[in-house]
Amino acid sequence: MGLTGRSDICEVCSADLRSERNNGKERAGIMAGRLKGRIAVVTAAGQGIGRAIAESFVAEGATVYASDVSRDKLEGLARAKKAKLDVLSTRAVEAYAAKVGPVDILVNVAGYVHHGTALTTTEKDWDFSFDLNVKSMHRTIHAFLPGMLERAKASGGTSSIVNIASGASSIRGIPNRYAYGASKAAVIGLTKAVAADFIRDGLRCNAIAPGTFRSPSWEDRVETLGKEWGSKEKALEMFVQRQPMGRVADAAEIAPVAIYLASDEAAFTTGTVINVDGGFSL
Ligand SMILES: NC(=O)c1ccc[n+]([C@@H]2O[C@H](COP(=O)([O-])OP(=O)(O)OC[C@H]3O[C@@H](n4cnc5c(N)ncnc54)[C@H](O)[C@@H]3O)[C@@H](O)[C@H]2O)c1
Repeated sequence: MGLTGRSDICEVCSADLRSERNNGKERAGIMAGRLKGRIAVVTAAGQGIGRAIAESFVAEGATVYASDVSRDKLEGLARAKKAKLDVLSTRAVEAYAAKVGPVDILVNVAGYVHHGTALTTTEKDWDFSFDLNVKSMHRTIHAFLPGMLERAKASGGTSSIVNIASGASSIRGIPNRYAYGASKAAVIGLTKAVAADFIRDGLRCNAIAPGTFRSPSWEDRVETLGKEWGSKEKALEMFVQRQPMGRVADAAEIAPVAIYLASDEAAFTTGTVINVDGGFSL
C-alpha cells in the first residue's frame, strides 16, 4: 500500500491513479485508428511478420492491400484486399501497383534466409537472395513511389515506406548467413538512399531490423538444423541463446513499430533502422 495507504493514490505526487488509468484507457481508445484513412500495401502478408503487420494495420483502420506469392496463405486475413503477387516479377509488381493506385504506406516484407558461407554460396544462391530480398524492394518502391508522392503532396502529410531488414546485416555478422546478411545490409543502404532522395517531398523511408521471430520459415530452420544436429531441442536452444533476452519473439511483436513508422507519429523520422530484436544487436 505504501505511504498513502491507498493503492489508487500515487505515493509520490498524490495523484488519483484511477483517473490516470482511465485516461490511459481513453488515450488507448484514441490511439486505435492511427492509420484511419490510410491506404497500405504489405508484401508477403501470408504468414509470419508480414501477416502480423497486415492484421495490425487493418486493426488500426487502414485499407490494407495484402499480397503474397501464395494466395492460399492469405486466407483468413479479415478485411484486407487480398491478392497473389510475386515480388520477383517486375511486370506483376507494376500491374499490381497500377491496379491498386496511389497509396500512403508500403511495407516491404518479402525475403528469404539463405544458409551458407562465402565458400558454399553459389552465384545462383547469391543472385536469388538479392533478387528476393533487395531487388523486390526496388520493384515495389519504383512502382508505388509516384503515387505515394502524389498522396503526400495532396494531404500535406507524409507517405511512408517500411522495409524489413534483419539484425543479420550491417548490424551483425551471423555465421552461415553470407548472402542473407549481405542482402539485408543492402536493404538498409536502399532505405537510407530512398529517405535521402525524397526527404523534402513528404516521403519517409525506414527499416526495421528484427532479431529472431517465430514464423513458419523459422520453424523450418529449427527443424532442418535439428535434423543436422540430431536434436531439435539443441537447435531451438541455439536460437534462444543467441537472443540476449533469452526468448524468441512472436510475430505480432513487430506490429507496434511498423504502425509507428507507418503513421504520422513518426513524421520526423526517416532513414532510420529500428532494431526490434530482444537485444540481438547488443
Ligand atoms: N523470422 C525471423 O526471425 C526474421 C528475422 C529477421 C528478418 N526477418 C525477415 O522478415 C521477413 C518475413 O520473414 P518471416 O520469417 O516472418 O516469414 P516467413 O519466411 O515464414 O514467410 C515469408 C512469406 O513470404 C512469402 N514469399 C516468398 N517468396 C515470395 C515472393 N517471391 N513474392 C511474394 N511473397 C513471397 C511466402 O509465401 C511467405 O508467406 C523476411 O524478409 C525475413 O528475412 C525475419
